[in-house]
This record gives sequence, C-alpha cells and structure tokens, in this order.
Amino acid sequence: MLEIEKFNKIVIANWKLNGSTSFLRDYLNNIEIKQSNLRDNCLIICPPTPYIKEINSSEFLKGAQDCSQFEEGAFTGEINAKMLKDIGCDFCIIGHSERRNHFKESNETILTKITNCINNDLIPICCVGESLEEKKQGLTKEVLKDQITKSLPKNINLNKIIIAYEPLWSIGTGIIPKIEDIVSIHNYIKNSIFLENNTKIVYGGSVKANNCKKIINLKEVDGLLVGGASLNLDEFNKIIEF
Ligand code: PGA
Repeated sequence: MLEIEKFNKIVIANWKLNGSTSFLRDYLNNIEIKQSNLRDNCLIICPPTPYIKEINSSEFLKGAQDCSQFEEGAFTGEINAKMLKDIGCDFCIIGHSERRNHFKESNETILTKITNCINNDLIPICCVGESLEEKKQGLTKEVLKDQITKSLPKNINLNKIIIAYEPLWSIGTGIIPKIEDIVSIHNYIKNSIFLENNTKIVYGGSVKANNCKKIINLKEVDGLLVGGASLNLDEFNKIIEF
C-alpha cells in the first residue's frame, strides 16, 4: 500500500457528480503541477468512477468517491473496492456527508466500506464533521469522536488512512471555520482521539484560492479536500501551488 507518511501536504480534488469526457480532457491539458511540489506533496484526483480509468498521469494519484459495502455478488449497480483498485485507484473517499445525508449511510456502513478498502489496498479518506445545529450546541468534539470511533476498524493502521474534517455547514457555503477552530479540532483528533499525532488529517469545506494558504500552511493541517473549487482550474491551479 502507498506510503502516505512521506507526504508533507495532500490535496484531494472531489469532483462529486460533475464532469464529462471533454471536461476531463481540458482538465488534464490545463492543470498546472509544479514538479518541485511533487517531491514532498501529493495530489489526488477523485472524478466520477467512469472517468478514473481515463486518467493516465504520473503527476497525481487517483481516488474514487465511494465504494460498495458489499464484496461481490447480486448487488446491481454497485462498484466494489477491488474493482477500484483494479482500475488504478489508490484512494477512496468514504462517508462523505452527502452520502451520510442523501443515502442515509450509517457509521456501521462506513466501517464496512473502510474495511473493504483496506482489504483491497485502497487508502480510505474517511470524512467526518458536525452539523451547524451540533456546533451551536457545543457538540462538535463529541460528534467527531463518535463518528471516528464507530467508523474505523479497531485494529486499523492509522498511517494507512486519511481523515477529512469537513464541517457540514462549511461544505459548499463559502463559509469556513475560524482558523483557531480548525487548529483546535485537528489537534483534538490527532492527540485526543488517536493519542498519536502522525495520522494524516485534511480539512475540507469551502476551500478556495483566496483562503487555501492560511489553512494548508497550518502545521496541524496535513492537506485539503476541495469540492467546488477543484472543478475550476483558475481556482484549483492556485490551490495546488501548495
Ligand atoms: P466544497 O466541498 O469545497 O465545495 O465546500 C468540499 C467537499 O464536499 O468535499
């Protein structure tokens, strides 16, 4: 399995349900990756599954946005972790809030999906985050602890997973948390939930060209998970300057 420990910063592009063959072609022609950045840093593109195989680049790694909770069999429409590995993925986003909300994915389902990823040599990018209501009630840390402890297999190697902290109220809204809150939450996950601080924890939620530097340069933040801005190369090329 890929050694993610060696990366200083990790930037993940989550295209969600967007893109087409021509969009992908333009994207690959116009994305600007500085070779000097690739020594220490890592860029992961997560397009919709049909386009994953079309990407053939040594400049970045490929990820999927979800995988089936089932291993194989009579589950029409599903795509399993083994197939994702087979088409060249090294990563898979699991438990994104859009899946938790729209598709009612529970922590138990997410645990099964993460286990399937690990069994197939895929690094899971496990998304966690509190709702606005939970934040207002002061429940953020409790919610994160509950999501993380219930979603991760007990014996997981914490160097073989990425946690994405994505406050739900920040996703797609243009609002980001106060910088001191990002620091405090990342510290909490690293030191109080995991009791060790080398697990990779990236931040996601309304990351744009004009706010990315102050977030990614924090020592507590190992990278970014970028949604909307990853689709616009005027924005994304600035974000991946690192
Ligand atoms: P956003 O999405 O950057 O558009 O807020 C982030 C995400 O949902 O992963």
